[in-house]
Amino acid sequence: MITKTITLNTGACMPEIGLGTWRANEEGLLAKTVKTAIALGYRHIDCAKFYGNQREIGKALKEVNVPREQLFITSKIWQNKHRPELVPGALDEILDELQLEYLDLLLIHFPYALKPEKATKEFTADDLENVPIMDTWKAMEALVDSGKVRAIGVSNFNKTIIKKMLPQCRIVPAVNQVEIHPYNPSSELVKVCQENGIAVTGYCPLGGTKVSVMDDKLIKKIAETHGCTPAQVALSWILSRGITVIPKSTNELRLKQNLEKVMLTTEELDLISGIKKREHKVDPRLDLKELEWVIHDDIAECPLI
Ligand SMILES: NC(=O)c1ccc[n+]([C@@H]2O[C@H](COP(=O)([O-])OP(=O)(O)OC[C@H]3O[C@@H](n4cnc5c(N)ncnc54)[C@H](OP(=O)(O)O)[C@@H]3O)[C@@H](O)[C@H]2O)c1
Repeated sequence: MITKTITLNTGACMPEIGLGTWRANEEGLLAKTVKTAIALGYRHIDCAKFYGNQREIGKALKEVNVPREQLFITSKIWQNKHRPELVPGALDEILDELQLEYLDLLLIHFPYALKPEKATKEFTADDLENVPIMDTWKAMEALVDSGKVRAIGVSNFNKTIIKKMLPQCRIVPAVNQVEIHPYNPSSELVKVCQENGIAVTGYCPLGGTKVSVMDDKLIKKIAETHGCTPAQVALSWILSRGITVIPKSTNELRLKQNLEKVMLTTEELDLISGIKKREHKVDPRLDLKELEWVIHDDIAECPLI
């Protein structure tokens, strides 16, 4: 079953369901997963420099018998490459790891920069660097001109940052990839993005390993009614909002189930939208008060635009 697509503001088609690859880096298992996923009909693979597994994904992509133009490959630059002069090299490194000539989509992984020597996720306030987002974005725009990326976008950008960026962009971000699931619907952010032609991709659409969305009573009950899994209910609710999803699984049955959308009734969709519980898996601030602005999108001043 080949997944349906949505049309990005570039005119390109992006499959509405993609394969997440974070923490799927057990040697050998990831390559097998990518090949299985593609055989099942996945055409969108979500990668990132930070996941440390792009070389294995690249090797698997070389071994599948699907033409490059039928695949949609996303990756993300890490925060230590935000200086504009480092952005082209960051893309070249990603292309080298994935063994590709071009990416379909390149994202800025988080809206703040780290010093170039900081390649890991563990960092303190001393490792932060003041690189204005628009400086990085202009370097991303130049990558589109180079032909090495077909579309550019952002990730973990709140609505205040998006609104401040938009008037300064030559190329409007094609995608904002953010955490979306029934316990973190981010309705206002989604509205701002969609009203401005920015497609939203939901990461951790099943709540990841930390958030208990799949144990939610209501979601389980709706799943029973449809004879499907809670995961399918959660994914179908996100898709119904025009948001694309990138669930991660290394299990063949679950990979297959995650591709099978369920037609939920309007009443069921409304009930899920009405869930009040709020939990999220990824906290981009890492408890640093210097990064409060990254999540509190009611703060008028975003220092780094
Ligand atoms: N941009 C960002 O900052 C960012 C942050 C986080 C994630 N992401 C991207 O989003 C992707 C998805 O997020 P995620 O991996 O954190 O979380 P997720 O996809 O919400 O959940 C993955 C977990 O759910 C399990 N699972 C998958 N399908 C299932 C099913 N049908 N039934 C029951 N359990 C199921 C998986 O286990 P099994 O593998 O055993 O099935 C895994 O433990 C990542 O892989 C990554 O590509 C991006």
